[in-house]
Amino acid sequence: MQIAIEPLISRCRPGWSLPGKFYSDEEVYRHDLARVWRTGWLFAGHSCEIPKAGDYFTLAVDTDSIIVARGDDGSVHGLHNVCRHRGSMICTEPAGHVTRLVCPYHQWTYGLDGCLLACRGMPDDLDKTQFGLVRVHAREAEGLIFISLAQNPPPFEPGLETLSPLLRPQGFNRAKVAKVVDYLVEANWKLVWENNRECYHCNFNHPQYIKANFDHYNADDATPRIREAINTVVARSEQKWAEADLAPTHKQTGMTLFPDAENNIWFSANRTPLVEGWVSESMDGRRVAPLMGDYRDADVGTLRIRTLPNFWNHSSCDHGVSTRLLPAGPQRTAVRVYWLVDEKAVEGRDYELARLMPFWQLTSEQDWRICERQQRGVNSSAYQPGPYSTFKEYNVDGFVRWYLQKVKRDA
Ligand code: FES
Ligand SMILES: [Fe+2]
Repeated sequence: MQIAIEPLISRCRPGWSLPGKFYSDEEVYRHDLARVWRTGWLFAGHSCEIPKAGDYFTLAVDTDSIIVARGDDGSVHGLHNVCRHRGSMICTEPAGHVTRLVCPYHQWTYGLDGCLLACRGMPDDLDKTQFGLVRVHAREAEGLIFISLAQNPPPFEPGLETLSPLLRPQGFNRAKVAKVVDYLVEANWKLVWENNRECYHCNFNHPQYIKANFDHYNADDATPRIREAINTVVARSEQKWAEADLAPTHKQTGMTLFPDAENNIWFSANRTPLVEGWVSESMDGRRVAPLMGDYRDADVGTLRIRTLPNFWNHSSCDHGVSTRLLPAGPQRTAVRVYWLVDEKAVEGRDYELARLMPFWQLTSEQDWRICERQQRGVNSSAYQPGPYSTFKEYNVDGFVRWYLQKVKRDA
């Protein structure tokens, strides 16, 4: 797809926010879909959502509905949810369990891997091998499922090698989804990411988050007292976690550097200490569910994971919270937030949603309101790009540079 993106890009000023069209224009959105959303790896969901053969869920990347199903051999298949007869959507439920995928229109029947098995009423000489469901690439790693709509996706292995050792102790492949909340955020997907990439806004907007974390402080406002507090928890954590192979990988104030636009790094994870006295990102800092994965001690700080263009996760010793973004229009993003706990944890006995959810539910909803207000502002004829803080918005700048490279690059 060709649009006049270059003149728009030439108006971008390094270190400043993007011109308004990037957040509102239909053509730019279509270009984003082609160059960002249909090229890389997208987080689809968790392995524990489809534990058995025949389990499936669907997700929508703009107008493309995708089925993610567990096959008879245990592997995960990604399939376009479009019948090869006359194009009906096949699965209309968001999730379920089937032995075959049967089109509701004329009952063409497909295997869980997308092969056409039966098409009653068609001539005997119809070559069924030519009418399987269109496949998308699917990979499963450490309890997370990624898909790619690209014909030739970038290699998945570098991400896997970087993320796996950090993710493994959290035990997402021995987890269950305790709760999911869906949001339709009235903001362009890039505004949602830009907001995620800075904590400049945290002090005034996230009263819960800032009690547990250090990353809202930066080089400009980390006082000697704050530095001492960080050094104390880092020193204790390093001593304690080194034996368990859980040593912190991010030890300073401020957010870890991500993304790396120059090297097109779309994934990252780090473990970082929580403030003294907090073992979980919960309202009071105390544990709200049984320990997850390999953890034998609640004091393991917080594990943070992010993959562009659509996933981040914050995990504590006892629970993980995943956020998945999907583009749903130039000014609309479908967001799903998942709360995960150990697979054996029983609601009412081992955890209560009323204690598990508020920290990230409040923080997430505070962010969605921020993004929607910003969308309304950038839609104004008076909007013009503004300068980023070098102390606090270096990752927003990094994200914008990553994005511009993706949309500039010849597909
Ligand atoms: S459209 Fe699916 S069987 Fe006809
Ligand atoms: Fe935020």
